[in-house]
Amino acid sequence: MKIINKSNNIQITDLDLDILKFIKQNFNNSDIMIIDKSLIKLSLIKKIVKICSTRAIIIAGNENIKSLNQYCRIVEKILKKGINRNSKLFSFGGGTIGDLAGFVSSTLLRGIKHIMIPTTLLAMVDSSVGGKNGINSVIGKNLIGNFQLPEAIIINTNFLKSLPKREISCGFAEIIKYAFIHNKKLKHLMANNTFYEIKKKFLKEIIIESVFTKLKYTKDFRERKTGRYSRAILNYGHTFGHAIESMNSFKGTVKHGEAVAMGMIFEMKISSALNLKPNSINDLENMLRKFDLPVSYKKYIHKDNISKIIKKISSDKKSFNKNTNLILIKKNTGIVKKTSLLKLSELSMKLVT
Ligand SMILES: NC(=O)c1ccc[n+]([C@@H]2O[C@H](COP(=O)([O-])OP(=O)(O)OC[C@H]3O[C@@H](n4cnc5c(N)ncnc54)[C@H](O)[C@@H]3O)[C@@H](O)[C@H]2O)c1
Ligand SMILES: [Zn+2]
Repeated sequence: MKIINKSNNIQITDLDLDILKFIKQNFNNSDIMIIDKSLIKLSLIKKIVKICSTRAIIIAGNENIKSLNQYCRIVEKILKKGINRNSKLFSFGGGTIGDLAGFVSSTLLRGIKHIMIPTTLLAMVDSSVGGKNGINSVIGKNLIGNFQLPEAIIINTNFLKSLPKREISCGFAEIIKYAFIHNKKLKHLMANNTFYEIKKKFLKEIIIESVFTKLKYTKDFRERKTGRYSRAILNYGHTFGHAIESMNSFKGTVKHGEAVAMGMIFEMKISSALNLKPNSINDLENMLRKFDLPVSYKKYIHKDNISKIIKKISSDKKSFNKNTNLILIKKNTGIVKKTSLLKLSELSMKLVT
């Protein structure tokens, strides 16, 4: 296993055997394992379940498990199995399992150690890094949560072999976001190779570069700072992306990465309208197309729903006193720009008519 980052103890491998060895060496009989149900067909996971036997909890990872009900069900289940302050919680799954398991581990006995093994591309490059744990409230997404870094993050790229194509593309939406807010190396790698070449030859390198980028922006642990590496910049594509997602979530037609892809296009067009001279929109469109992500937002942002979208944005965490902190692209860097909702509404209206 290769260490990507020492202080956050982030390691990467492409060998199942490394994971098996890690579990054999580190899993004790007072520890707990939470595993995404989609993984139990894998031979590695079958072996791991054998090692943990009655200490393993299997859950079907999806957005609905990030709820107070599931949280209660799982902590009670774990407490019934019995744990102590030295117990560790291991989690295998995507961002939903990671966010929930992180919240469970940080609150059980006022905090036990969490070993996170992300199994989706999105979780490997984004949600596992930065220490945000959380669940959803009926009022909105991620409204209940805290910050606690996992004890270790162990990435095994082999898990991606069973991940559906659409989920792989959604992971690439966040990687494209990193490429456009910051990372020249990442942008070069992604622009100059085909999707096939990237999956075959450069995936590990791209995951490592993405983790480095996320770490740079999450040094600002609690989002207090503004400036070059403000954590807020990671929200590029997410202002309009979240609005699209929440207005369509009940239909389940748009995935997070797809909404972010459309959000990035729209927000780059706003950057252009504000004369920030962002990277060519064509480059962004070409890259999104290459990774099978949507480029046209017309179906989701149009003149009949734009005022509803602005209203959604006004109730977002990033909005305050009739203003919102937009994440825009200035030349080739992401920036935070305080913008009045009135101005945003006028600019958006021009982009949809
Ligand atoms: N904490 C953070 O900083 C942060 C950052 C970004 C996103 N998130 C959260 O991450 C979540 C999204 O994560 P996600 O996209 O990983 O979703 P997810 O956890 O729902 O996983 C997507 C699907 O893939 C399946 N799956 C997982 N690993 C698999 C594998 N190896 N093979 C086959 N199927 C597999 C899951 O069962 C699920 O059906 C959201 O809830 C979002 O809020 C958190
Ligand atoms: Zn995202």
